[in-house]
Amino acid sequence: MANNNNSRPRPSRRLAWIALAAAVVAGILASLALWARGARGFSARAQPTGMETWMAHMMRAMAMPAGASARRDPYPGLTAAQMRFATEHFAAHCAVCHNNNGDGKTMLGENMYPHPPDLRGPGTRRKSDGALYYIIRNGIRMSGMPAWGDDTPKETWELVDFIRHLPRLTPAEIARMRKYNPKTIFPEPLMDATMSKMGGE
Ligand code: HEC
Repeated sequence: MANNNNSRPRPSRRLAWIALAAAVVAGILASLALWARGARGFSARAQPTGMETWMAHMMRAMAMPAGASARRDPYPGLTAAQMRFATEHFAAHCAVCHNNNGDGKTMLGENMYPHPPDLRGPGTRRKSDGALYYIIRNGIRMSGMPAWGDDTPKETWELVDFIRHLPRLTPAEIARMRKYNPKTIFPEPLMDATMSKMGGE
């Protein structure tokens, strides 16, 4: 009988090549992981290097769908009522990581990697309204930033306007926000009150 398999590569040899290639890739990845661990560890408390931040932002800008960044805010400016709502919304859902004033210095924010950026800083100011809207609704992969796409588009645009307002936040606004902060993670002033009730320091 004729053997038709002679013209094709033998399956066992093809498998051997695939196994070899997989082993080489696994070896390279393992060496890289070991090198990274030895070099810097992988603590979430570390500060991303400038190169890492630059690459992450470049890839994010490339991944943003065409037109998302150019989208205009359909509700520019906030009425007093909208501002009140956005302030409470940010205090309830965002401040746990970003802090009421947007500086990102909270218990969670300082212990995650990458840390939330200062939303009053140039990095956020330079981004368009459309880019901030897209980030809030879709989140940022492989970071602590969740997707908040279940809010109405109007609520998200109000958050964009609120972020633009952060540099001018008044002490009275911050005091009001404290009432809407989740109580278990914000130690002050609730924690102080609880501790003194319990007789602690
Ligand atoms: C669990 C933590 C967490 C919560 C809650 C959170 N964020 Fe974030 N956010 C992050 C982190 C971390 C980043 C930075 C991610 C990165 O750069 O890779 C970020 C980034 C952002 C950015 C991009 C800023 C920039 O200049 O790149 C915006 C805008 C933002 N968050 C808005 C919000 C809003 C609005 C809410 C609430 C609806 C919110 N975030 C809730 C962790 C959080």
